[in-house]
Amino acid sequence: NKVVLAYSGGLDTSAIVPWLKENYDCEVVAFVADVGQGADELDGVEAKAKASGASECYVVDLQQELAEQVIYPSLTTGAVYEGQYLLGTALARPVIAKAQVEVARAVGADAVSHGCTGKGNDQVRFESAFAALAPDLKVIAPWREWSMRSRPDLLNYLAERDIPCSASATKIYSRDANLWHISHEGGELEDPWCAPTEQVWTWTRSPEQAPDKPEYLTLSFAAGKLTHINDSSFSPVDAILHLNEVASVHGIGRLDIVENRLVGMKSRGCYETPAGTVLMAALQGLESLVLDRTALNYRQSIAQEFALLLYDGRWFTPLREALLAAAAKLAEPLTGDVVVKLYKGQATVSQRRSPNSLYSNAFATFDEDEVYDQSHAEGFIRLYSLSSRIRALHQQSADHK
Ligand code: ARG
Ligand code: SIN
Repeated sequence: NKVVLAYSGGLDTSAIVPWLKENYDCEVVAFVADVGQGADELDGVEAKAKASGASECYVVDLQQELAEQVIYPSLTTGAVYEGQYLLGTALARPVIAKAQVEVARAVGADAVSHGCTGKGNDQVRFESAFAALAPDLKVIAPWREWSMRSRPDLLNYLAERDIPCSASATKIYSRDANLWHISHEGGELEDPWCAPTEQVWTWTRSPEQAPDKPEYLTLSFAAGKLTHINDSSFSPVDAILHLNEVASVHGIGRLDIVENRLVGMKSRGCYETPAGTVLMAALQGLESLVLDRTALNYRQSIAQEFALLLYDGRWFTPLREALLAAAAKLAEPLTGDVVVKLYKGQATVSQRRSPNSLYSNAFATFDEDEVYDQSHAEGFIRLYSLSSRIRALHQQSADHK
């Protein structure tokens, strides 16, 4: 028996390795997804996995795939969960699950395992991906099976087995990081009346401490895809890293919300998504020039649908392909430049231009113009309001009876 475990090097998955071996009498292969969580988590992770008892450890760099196959396409849908959350954790899950299945196939495993709790969204996202990609593989979710409930329980479990673990019992928050964002949950944040202290935030400077001088970035897009920042070209991964660096100094991308989990409960989370916040603002600025009213309205309904799809772990479905195809079509004219002002926690669009702009000063001007005959508006309004007129006439004649 062989199990491939999505391993992070944290306390939970460190305990899962011996637990799987003891309870499933199996060999455990550790799989570490590098989704841009950073050296803090990745340095020495292979040695850690083996110290926990893994027979092998595969570290797979998925950053490019995450940025190019998932983040950039999803951006053109405008997906934002419950009006605010930029879906950082949800976006990474499809690429992680897919690579994990590939490792499982490569080593001839018969099961996959993960460290998600039985209360959250991530278990649904991973297992829905496994179902779509490898329905024959068994899924083992230790958090839903074992009786351990807390960090001290896990630390004890490891100590009893003489397995070294650098995690301490005092670590407060549960964090999840990748290229796009870092999330913070748990500790005192579980009380929605408790404001996040500066210890919560790890990527961004607080807006109060941000520079007093604004910074301006010119973002250039081709068909909805970011190509240049201040005239230098960037790959998707490098663009996200660069924007994270620049925007975090200005305190951009912090979010503190209570959200609805798929499994029914509410949870409180703090998120930092600096590059994502800048990119969303810039794309919106371009859309406002280029998409007409009905197209924009439809794009917004795609955004709504796609946010749910991502959050709920339905990446590997025909609906995802259909929505992305529609979003890509609407993004075709999104070519042009946007200037975003970064200042004290805010990313605001101050300039925008596009060869496909539908904005015409000749039409919109309050001065005299030659292209729009104001007398046409009268007929338009009469027809547009015809049903109101008919209703009111009915009412009048009823009143007179
Ligand atoms: N609530 C967010 C989401 O469901 C963040 C979850 C963070 N996940 C984690 N394993 N710490 O997308
Ligand atoms: C977890 O429960 O594993 C993390 C939170 C979530 O998935 O929503």
